[in-house]
Amino acid sequence: MDDFLSVNDLHDLIGESTEIYHYDILDSTSTEARHILGSGRIFESGFIVIADTQTDGRGRQGRSFVSSADNGLYFTYVIPQVLVTDKVYSGFTTMIAVAVAESLNEQIYITADKRAQIKWVNDIYVNRKKVCGILCEALKDYFLIGIGINIYEFSLPEELQDKVGFINPAVPCKTPLLALIIQNINKLITEGDSAEIIKRARELSMLIGSEIVFVENNQEFEATVLGIEDDGGLKVRLNDGSVKVLTSGEISIKSF
Ligand code: BTN
Repeated sequence: MDDFLSVNDLHDLIGESTEIYHYDILDSTSTEARHILGSGRIFESGFIVIADTQTDGRGRQGRSFVSSADNGLYFTYVIPQVLVTDKVYSGFTTMIAVAVAESLNEQIYITADKRAQIKWVNDIYVNRKKVCGILCEALKDYFLIGIGINIYEFSLPEELQDKVGFINPAVPCKTPLLALIIQNINKLITEGDSAEIIKRARELSMLIGSEIVFVENNQEFEATVLGIEDDGGLKVRLNDGSVKVLTSGEISIKSF
């Protein structure tokens, strides 16, 4: 399916004040955003760097993010930190996950059997497979929000085939989806409230009741997820019965 990004349409939807840098190919939109900020120019509004293809997409914890020519939506939204209300500073990454998951669910092509959910802290899953990764970084006075969404099916390395999924929309979606994500992020950074965002994150969470594995001090632990705390931490019960709240790091799912 032809699904081309239209920068003109994007400007119509999100406003002219947000600059848009659109490339056919980049190593990474987040790396490019850093270069742009490195020029020393001061941005009073946000800007977006988009690439149809990435050759060196970056994930969290130094991982790489597989990007495929034209089959995904790869962009980094850079926001001056002064535009973000301090009511959402803590739990910023949770807020972005909520904005992305709700945007996917607002689009008509996500039907009832295709609901986007959040895997703590900010991966987005559909039908138990990861369809979107989010990389939030801070540089100088800016937040850099890197978002990669697998839209159309492409071939994956064998080890990812069970874990990674695709949106597979019925109609072209890249431009309206990107616009909706930006609009929803803008709404939350100005009007959001962390208690309300955590409530929405709980409703979207796919982990409650799941068996997970996490690593702490080089030791692997198995646990059952009990819930999400008011500060966004993940409350788990370890196999020895003790209860713990994870505040950072990565977890993997053992069984749902
Ligand atoms: C993760 O799953 O660990 C986060 C992946 C983030 C990928 C996106 S794609 C657009 C932006 N540019 C990058 O290099 N990374 C982010």
